[in-house]
Amino acid sequence: MLRQKNYLALGLLGCVLLLLSATTADNSVYILSKYGHQQQLTSTTLRWLPAHHIPNEKQIVVGGFEKISNAEDDNNANQADKLETKSQPPIYVCRAMHSNSVWVAGMQRHKEKRCTVTMHGAVQSYEKYELLENADGAARITWVSWNKYTQPPVGAVYANKLLIARYEIPTEEKSRYTHYIGTLSSTENFGNIVYANENGKEETATCGELLVETEPIRYELSVVKLNWYKKHDIKPRVSRVLNEVTIVNRGTQAAKMAEASTYSYKYTIYWGRRHAMLNGLDTTITLFNGTSLPNITWGTRHEENRTEAYNILIFLEPGTGVNVTLRANYTNMEVPYTATLISHYEDGATTSRPINGYRQEETLFDIKPEFGPIYFLNNYSLVPTTVPPPTTTEPTTTTTIATTKQPQETTHQHGTTEPDVNRDENMIIPKKPDISTGMQSDDGGPLSLKNKVEVTYGGTACATFKSSLLTLPLLLLILHRIT
Ligand SMILES: *[C@@H]1O[C@H](CO)[C@@H](O)[C@H](O)[C@H]1NC(C)=O
Ligand SMILES: *[C@@H]1O[C@H](CO)[C@@H](O)[C@H](O)[C@H]1NC(C)=O
Ligand SMILES: *[C@@H]1O[C@H](CO)[C@@H](O)[C@H](O)[C@H]1NC(C)=O
Ligand SMILES: *[C@@H]1O[C@H](CO)[C@@H](O)[C@H](O)[C@H]1NC(C)=O
Ligand SMILES: *[C@@H]1O[C@H](CO)[C@@H](O)[C@H](O)[C@H]1NC(C)=O
Ligand SMILES: *[C@@H]1O[C@H](CO)[C@@H](O)[C@H](O)[C@H]1NC(C)=O
Repeated sequence: MLRQKNYLALGLLGCVLLLLSATTADNSVYILSKYGHQQQLTSTTLRWLPAHHIPNEKQIVVGGFEKISNAEDDNNANQADKLETKSQPPIYVCRAMHSNSVWVAGMQRHKEKRCTVTMHGAVQSYEKYELLENADGAARITWVSWNKYTQPPVGAVYANKLLIARYEIPTEEKSRYTHYIGTLSSTENFGNIVYANENGKEETATCGELLVETEPIRYELSVVKLNWYKKHDIKPRVSRVLNEVTIVNRGTQAAKMAEASTYSYKYTIYWGRRHAMLNGLDTTITLFNGTSLPNITWGTRHEENRTEAYNILIFLEPGTGVNVTLRANYTNMEVPYTATLISHYEDGATTSRPINGYRQEETLFDIKPEFGPIYFLNNYSLVPTTVPPPTTTEPTTTTTIATTKQPQETTHQHGTTEPDVNRDENMIIPKKPDISTGMQSDDGGPLSLKNKVEVTYGGTACATFKSSLLTLPLLLLILHRIT
């Protein structure tokens, strides 16, 4: 009886798990890693999106274009339609679960809500499918030429088990498309590019192009503007006693006495993490006024033990002394920032886009000496207050004795009461509409792919296997740069 109940419970649990796994579909995109054969990495910038509710501003990876023939154009009575169709409608990279068994990449015509894929001779159009999103337009994607004798390049994008590929249709074939999108049947030897042609037939080609994502090797965060007006404390400020010292004048003359008071504290800085950015990349940071900050590793919190000295100055009569307490507030604050992110690639190329985020900084603030009453050294009685009060001390200076890194831009003016308002070099005037609106308007998005022909290869022979005709050698293989 008890055992039966247990089985029932297990069965229910199993059902729940099954349901969970069915609903939380994995939208990660995998790319070929440089760490050895067939190793897959998750792309930080590409994502599979279910096709039914994709907002307009999303950037979808384009694999080719539909050609608009002149005849079709002339038949078009409506002038507006004519203008609309003048530009070549894009065809998008999509994937569908083929025969309930495997994800296969294919193509979706502009505005057509179907993804056409093929495998093992079975061409099928699916209404339930996914499109390949280039999040924030942050991915640098290219179509890289491939043939039977080349290994798929690092960064080649998987539909799931198979790589995404396309075949450029020779112009003499008079196709309505520039390319067919499909998959590379095998990443081992003897692979072919397999795609469905416009007549709904499967074809294969021994050469074509593979979709490749190139990841940056380092970042440059430039034109950084910290918005100090919007800073806020993450934790309440904690008042801290840094040091207690006694300054004495044992000489015979009144003098200005100085004492360097050292203290240590933990300093941390964190520029945050973002989707579509690789954690662990070396990042240089430059403020908008040109000042460089220490390099960081993107996505990690930088911690250092800082030891600094505060130079306390006080005017003392001979034979007198004073106790001084050095106090400060320790804060963990968050400041919003905007910046231009420049991604650097191995081949020397760069791409840039605006980003925003929060910078967290844990540091000492408001470092101030508190002077006790001045007393006589011989009998410890207090000096009558007709003597100038101790608050009229000379301006103090701070020197950094030892830090593991260079001092940040925050180690300054420790003698002032409210350093925040003195950081005017870095202020942002709140009305700056171009920051928010410009965020997504990357003109180099995949939708602007057309006519961005960058590299042209000549004379690569390429055979397609069809029922009868043997195609002429391809003269041009065009590599579209997408970002
Ligand atoms: C910071 O990184 C840049 C670019 O990688 C490098 O040229 C520079 O020397 C680095 N600076 C420091 C202080 O390490
Ligand atoms: C800072 O000092 C603490 C102990 O005082 C030590 O545990 C920590 O590792 C040090 N951190 C760095 C970055 O040196
Ligand atoms: C100054 O500090 C010493 C010990 O550090 C203490 O004994 C003394 O009472 C203090 N004097 C005054 C005037 O606060
Ligand atoms: C610490 O912060 C509190 C509240 O902001 C302020 O009243 C106090 O004067 C600060 N302490 C120091 C030593 O500046
Ligand atoms: C303490 O010593 C100072 C200077 O030697 C003297 O002026 C002062 O009157 C003395 N105070 C007391 C209470 O003895
Ligand atoms: C730039 O701004 C930082 C902090 O906001 C400041 O420390 C630095 O001196 C400024 N540099 C120049 C060249 O104005």
